Amino acid sequence: MDQTALTQFRIGQGWDSHQIEAGRPLILGGITIPSEFGLAGHSDADVLFHAVTDALLGSLGLGDIGMHFPDTAAEWKDADSETFLRQAMQLIGQRGYAIANVDTTIILERPKLKDFRAAIRDNLARVLSLPPGCVGVKFKTAEKVGPVGEGRSCEAQAAVLVSRTRPGE
Ligand code: C5P
Ligand code: MG
Repeated sequence: MDQTALTQFRIGQGWDSHQIEAGRPLILGGITIPSEFGLAGHSDADVLFHAVTDALLGSLGLGDIGMHFPDTAAEWKDADSETFLRQAMQLIGQRGYAIANVDTTIILERPKLKDFRAAIRDNLARVLSLPPGCVGVKFKTAEKVGPVGEGRSCEAQAAVLVSRTRPGE
C-alpha cells in the first residue's frame, strides 16, 4: 500500500443480510439469542460480525468479507465469524491503525433484542479490544415492511472509525 495515501483517520461502513431459517441458531455478535429460528448461511451467519468485518476492511480499502473468506470454501463452512473479525483487525493493525469506535444497528422484526444489548456490546468490545463505551449496538424493526419486516431476513449495519497510531508494516 502507498504509505503517503494514509491519513490519520479513516471511516468504514458495512452492511449484511441473511435469510431467516427455522431450526438454525440465531447468533448476533457472537451471542446465541433464544429463538425458534436463526439465520441461514455458509458460516455461523453472524450478520453483525459480518457487517463489522466489512466496515473494518472498507476503512482501509481492503475489499470485502467474501474476498478474504469465500463462502464457497469448505474451510469456512459453519465458521465462527469471530475469526473473520479478528483477521480484519489484524490487517488494520498491520497497517498501523487501531479502531477508535464502532457503531452498529441490527434490523430484525422479532424477537426483541434489547435484553441482549449489554451481552452483544460487551462481546463485540472484547473481540475488538475496545472499552464497551466505544461500541454502539442498536436495534430496529422494519415496521412490518419488506423482507425484514415480513420476518424473512435480518440485516445489520456498521460504521467504524480507525485511527493511525504507528507506521504500518
Ligand atoms: O423499530 P422500532 O423503532 O419500533 O424499535 C423500537 C425499539 O425496540 C428499538 O429502539 C429497540 O430498542 C427495540 N428493538 C428490540 N429488538 C428488535 C427491534 C427493536 O429490542 N428486534
Ligand atoms: Mg453474512
